Amino acid sequence: MAGIFITFEGTEGCGKSTHIERLADRLRAEGHSVCVLREPGGTESGEAIRQLLKHGPDNLTPEAELLLMNASRAQLAREVIRPALAEGQIVLCDRFYDSSTVYQGTGRGLDASLVQQVIDLAVGDTRPDLTLLLQIPLATSEKRRAKRKETDRFEAADREFFERIEDGYQALAKAHPDRVHVIDARPPLATVQAAIWDTVAVALKKCE
Ligand code: TMP
Repeated sequence: MAGIFITFEGTEGCGKSTHIERLADRLRAEGHSVCVLREPGGTESGEAIRQLLKHGPDNLTPEAELLLMNASRAQLAREVIRPALAEGQIVLCDRFYDSSTVYQGTGRGLDASLVQQVIDLAVGDTRPDLTLLLQIPLATSEKRRAKRKETDRFEAADREFFERIEDGYQALAKAHPDRVHVIDARPPLATVQAAIWDTVAVALKKCE
């Protein structure tokens, strides 16, 4: 059986990594083989690119950012995601190409069709079966970002940037209602995890 590819999206501090870990634990406990990845990163070259993207010079251009994100993605798709799916694994990825659409497109203001062309080159036909968009209010994201000891190039952006990210994610959910499922990430962790589980369970049933 072919695997299933599930991606997680959302703004800074929405709780993606915690929820991915919990979901992976539950899926493994139910006997599934699970591969957990993050973007940018997930391969040796991808992790080096991640370091540059998050902590590199301030003057990195939006175009360079787009290409680096997608260089990491091209490597991840071919080196890890495709083989894992071919083995029938459930691949959980913390961010994927929707982040480029939203951050480099809506956020940095690059032309949407140009961003799409770069994404298409990077991923080919490796596309998520399901995307969970974890939503929190901008004020919550700001509070959580303020608590972090170290700030990266993205977290240091101004409020207008994050307002555009919020708008970008809303537009994404509207444009892909069959694939992108919005999860209200404000309630307590267990409630959010239950909503995630319900959505994933439906997707797994469809693939059986
Ligand atoms: P994170 O892994 O801590 O969420 O950091 C990744 C950062 O990179 C986050 O601010 C979103 C940003 N990003 C993009 O701008 N474009 C992309 O395509 C991806 C994958 C991430």
